[in-house]
Amino acid sequence: MIQAIALLMILPGLLVASSHQNPKLALGLGKTIYQKQCKVCHGVQGNAKSFAANALYPPPRNFTSAKSKNELSRQRMIRSVTKGRPGTAMMPWEKNLTAKEIQAVVDYIWHRLMHRALPGEE
Ligand code: HEC
Repeated sequence: MIQAIALLMILPGLLVASSHQNPKLALGLGKTIYQKQCKVCHGVQGNAKSFAANALYPPPRNFTSAKSKNELSRQRMIRSVTKGRPGTAMMPWEKNLTAKEIQAVVDYIWHRLMHRALPGEE
């Protein structure tokens, strides 16, 4: 009984600790951030079909296009999300999101919207 209680007490700690390692959980975090902060311009599917896109020039990036797949690396995406794209509606997110959150949302776009493998998954 005491062991069961002890286990219940350490379990939440273990779950929090493992969420940093488990790419599936980080993708969940990335999805939440994407839907809250990015979808409004980039669209649910990442294809830049959003209402806001009608009013933006240059338009939001369509992550699903062949051009994006050629041009975007994860590193470039992390930099663009962190620092923004000057002269465009793509603002810097470094004040609103932590480095971990930026990585999670980029991984979500990379894996779920661009259908590319995450490192160590090839
Ligand atoms: C207000 C509209 C808007 C919002 C909100 C927005 N973006 Fe963007 N995003 C843009 C535009 C416009 C571009 C195209 C910039 C350009 O042409 O260089 C862009 C480009 C990008 C690019 C490609 C940059 C490159 O290097 O070419 C990435 C990656 C990106 N956005 C990720 C995100 C993420 C992640 C979020 C949410 C945290 C987000 N965006 C929220 C408008 C937006």
